[in-house]
Amino acid sequence: MLSLFHTYVDPTAEAKVSSVLRSTYLSEGEVTKEFEIELERLLGLRNCVALNSGTSALHLALTLADVHQGDEVILPAQTFVASGLTILQQGAIPVFADIDYESGNISTESIKKKISKRTKAIMPVHWGGYPCDLEKIGQLAQENNLIVIEDAAHALGATYKNIPIGAISDFTCFSFQAIKHVTTGDGGALCVNNKSAYEKAISRRWFGINRAKAPVNELGERSYNIQELGYKYHMSNYAAALGKANLTSFPERLQKRLSVATYYTKQLSGVTGINLFKYEPDRQSAYWLFGFHVENRLNFVKALKDRNVMASVVHQRIDRNDVFGGLRADLAGQTQFDKTQINIPIHDGIDQEKAEYIVSAIKLGW
Ligand SMILES: Cc1ncc(COP(=O)(O)O)c(C=O)c1O
Repeated sequence: MLSLFHTYVDPTAEAKVSSVLRSTYLSEGEVTKEFEIELERLLGLRNCVALNSGTSALHLALTLADVHQGDEVILPAQTFVASGLTILQQGAIPVFADIDYESGNISTESIKKKISKRTKAIMPVHWGGYPCDLEKIGQLAQENNLIVIEDAAHALGATYKNIPIGAISDFTCFSFQAIKHVTTGDGGALCVNNKSAYEKAISRRWFGINRAKAPVNELGERSYNIQELGYKYHMSNYAAALGKANLTSFPERLQKRLSVATYYTKQLSGVTGINLFKYEPDRQSAYWLFGFHVENRLNFVKALKDRNVMASVVHQRIDRNDVFGGLRADLAGQTQFDKTQINIPIHDGIDQEKAEYIVSAIKLGW
């Protein structure tokens, strides 16, 4: 069966992780710092803070954006629950905006309608790795004095108007969970535009203590006086070692993934019953997913399964969960998207030959 997801572990990872294990310095240290520097150097990310998950990155960003009790944060329902739960963790209110049926990304028109006096931030999610309209979102944020927190869990390596995702908005949150483009087992990164917020992120990720600026004194204890609430969100050295190994090969792996996406787009564009997502030429998706709309979806999934190809819906709208208050009735694009969205395998295990097999399996019909 050609699975929908895949965990990539670079052949160099074993030696890199073993070296950390041998050193016995497992917690956050030099390797974590090196991973951050590599993320900035290779991908052009800005002020990158390595963390233990993408969820931690979202939560930390919300605290740095001063999102508190009763504040509203606008996000799409087409995401993973992590986006909405972190808002609730701050005692704030997730306000669900509609998405564009053609891409699965948050609709800027809908954001406009949802802005209220209590809105503090917008959390766009780059669905499947395809960047949202960050120029329009940035403009709306500026006009209404709002912070932008990008959920870029799917979008490592994506660009918007030739600028890397991770170098645009106030905050950008990445995930290095097991099936992401680059994995550290579990992990994440927060990119911060503003230097003082960056300094705060560094200390808040470890209880409110900046390790580098809190030297161990003669009695063997670190000198610190915690000024504000911190968390245990740091990334460990051994996880960073895996990340470093996977990151080195990432640019080349991403190019291969993009060529599979180009092949799928070309081959599937004329197929009756398939309606490809509409992607703008001013941005480059990282193609964590290859999604589209399909007629007779269940038949499609079953037919592909019979041909050993997994096709699946990924993440149903999150507002349906009771914790968020149940399905919103005013999200027409979302409701339409739910009925027809589907994803086919695109990952490091899919080479040109497998992509050709998948296309031929689809073209047999359903
Ligand atoms: C859109 C989105 N946001 C956030 C997350 C949370 O990331 P993590 O699992 O690293 O905490 C995920 C998880 O996969 C996700 O898909």
